[in-house]
Amino acid sequence: MGILEQERVGASSMAEQLLRNIGPIVLLGPPGAGKGTQSKNITQHYRIPQVSTGDLLREHVKQATPLGLEVKELMARGELVPDHLVCDIVAWRLREPDARRGFVLDGFPRAQKQAVWLDAFLKFEFFETGKWPAWLPIVVRIQVDYNKLLLRIAGRRTCPTCGRIYNVHSQTPLVDEICDVDGSKLFIRDDDREEVIRERLATYERQTQPVADYYAQLGRIVTIDGDRPVDEVTASIVREIDGKAAAASEGK
Ligand code: AP5
Repeated sequence: MGILEQERVGASSMAEQLLRNIGPIVLLGPPGAGKGTQSKNITQHYRIPQVSTGDLLREHVKQATPLGLEVKELMARGELVPDHLVCDIVAWRLREPDARRGFVLDGFPRAQKQAVWLDAFLKFEFFETGKWPAWLPIVVRIQVDYNKLLLRIAGRRTCPTCGRIYNVHSQTPLVDEICDVDGSKLFIRDDDREEVIRERLATYERQTQPVADYYAQLGRIVTIDGDRPVDEVTASIVREIDGKAAAASEGK
């Protein structure tokens, strides 16, 4: 039995999760903190979709769409994609029917303008239309030491088919370099080269740390220690989300 089934954290039966509005959840944290890994667990727990701007952008690059061609070089250098382009793809994704009960934003917002845009978008699209009584995102920051982040990113392997994330040190596949789920050959992301990793971490400090400060000033962020086994981190995040969601539904 997995940790999510073992933990008694709020509404946890499948039926309850399907009926409940969870609302927007934002996972913040530097590259390698475990946002993608945790998003997959959390979306499975609440049965809501993961909206990863990194994955959406990488798909555009892979398909060589006009957007993909525009952002390819920026991403390869570890820089951020312009706000208006990212906000557009997020708006498009959040209007999909599967996002009606809530979603986990992974990698968005990561500039203060994006955070301000997200608040306005959620207010107009979900609150003022009467879809959700509570619309402020629950913001969870995952914290991990710099040197551990370097190690984690350098050891990451990803499945090109199902997106499952592995690590050569900590989350190893059963067969070397092969996905446990679908047998695909795992790949190393283009931006997981050492010089780009350092640039991505510097970009985080410069441009995304202010997002954490923005949410902190509004009293809307919780910080989780991400340097623990994956399932323990997931259980902590779920506990925080359930607590915040319960408080919001009681109007606190
Ligand atoms: P994006 O794809 O969002 O990358 P990132 O933020 O740099 O984050 P990562 O995917 O590197 O790390 P993660 O926190 O998801 O960690 P993971 O779970 O994989 O963005 C890529 C690029 O797209 C950006 O550089 C930018 O150019 C562009 N972009 C995206 N969003 C944008 C936006 N909003 N605005 C502008 N530009 C944007 O885990 C890492 C490794 O650690 C894995 O190997 C995993 O197995 C392992 N691991 C995870 N948890 C644990 C644990 N608890 N213990 C041990 N190992 C663990």
